[in-house]
Amino acid sequence: MAEPVDARCARELTAVFEELGAADAGALAALEALCFSSPWSEAQFVSSFGQAAFRAFGLRAAGRLAGYAAVYCGADELELLNIAVLPELRRQGLGARLLDGVLQAARKTGMNRGLLEVRVGNAPARALYESFGFAPVGRRKRYYADTGEDALVYQLDLASREECCMRKIVAANWKMYKTRGEAAATATALRRLLDGNMPEGRDVVVFPPFLAVSAVAEALAGADRMAVGAQDVYPAAEGAFTGEVSPAMLRDGGASWVLVGHSERRHVLGEDDAFVGRKAAFALEQGLKIMVCVGETLEEREAGRLEAVLARQLDAAFAGVRAAGCGDLAVAYEPVWAIGTGKVAGPREIAEAHALVRRLLVRRFPEFGNNVAILYGGSVKPANAASIIALDNVDGLLVGGASLDAESFSAIVRA
Ligand code: PGA
Repeated sequence: MAEPVDARCARELTAVFEELGAADAGALAALEALCFSSPWSEAQFVSSFGQAAFRAFGLRAAGRLAGYAAVYCGADELELLNIAVLPELRRQGLGARLLDGVLQAARKTGMNRGLLEVRVGNAPARALYESFGFAPVGRRKRYYADTGEDALVYQLDLASREECCMRKIVAANWKMYKTRGEAAATATALRRLLDGNMPEGRDVVVFPPFLAVSAVAEALAGADRMAVGAQDVYPAAEGAFTGEVSPAMLRDGGASWVLVGHSERRHVLGEDDAFVGRKAAFALEQGLKIMVCVGETLEEREAGRLEAVLARQLDAAFAGVRAAGCGDLAVAYEPVWAIGTGKVAGPREIAEAHALVRRLLVRRFPEFGNNVAILYGGSVKPANAASIIALDNVDGLLVGGASLDAESFSAIVRA
């Protein structure tokens, strides 16, 4: 029967089962018995475990469970990731979701000291691994005994993402609330609550209305890990653009960040994807960090267009962006139907969307897309912040209504 399970793996496995609503000890025991009943090699074990888990629990669960099984066996390479690209799963377009689950498991357990290696033969599997940021590092001659074909060796360094993503960004979007005096008072109260006392691994960014940017920058000057941003920007250095504000003016006012493409600008003010892209590229070129907001409407979600909408918005937003590294930008995923409505997306919906955004970021920025922070926004409150920020690929929160009050926002920062 099974060797004793490492305590951490056991905890993680339990968490996965709970998260997936599949807390069925009998099914897990059956899977274990099945997998341990034959003297298989590690890779066969994990592959078989993954396939059995897939049948029993579906997609993400199978990937996660296969990843944990790999740790459980002490496997030192992820040849076994190939379960993610079983031809029949790939035909159904499911390989990416399985692979995502395996990677989440590997990241959480610090498996293989952060370096994952796979050997891959066919072109569709290579494309899949590349879209997750794996890079080819060599070739194994005649690797496949049955066909005599070579395999390419691919590696992904998980360690870099772990380091970069130790910090999470908690951002306050004050929208069209607060005069200069009110904004300065809230910023001063926030500073009193957080400066010198910031929870481990948190960065705060406050986005006040334009007129209050410099007042908030003054109130937070010199505070540890508290930055100021603007809610919008115009993509030109200067000119006849009545009512608009340039990146240089924002920097002059003390802003280091800017939001681009917030859903209220897209849906209330009519900004289109191309305009958002021009703003993102220009603001970055002019020395601001950009927080690009994306998210689907309820109709788009219900029509099954989540992935298409996020891909379209991100592709357009980053079309002209020449970022130097992960610290230059962040993405905020804010489902339109959850903003200001009190409706929060569920953990599965959030994790699914963030995994999609992660994949699109890696495809767009292969060197550092894995490390770009992805924030969740939409009805975040002190009571739900901790459970949301703990989800896979959630590297921070963008908070509207609940950020207007210093006590409430600082409780979210501490979540
Ligand atoms: P909300 O707003 O927290 O009030 O839903 C979030 C946002 O629009 O950034």
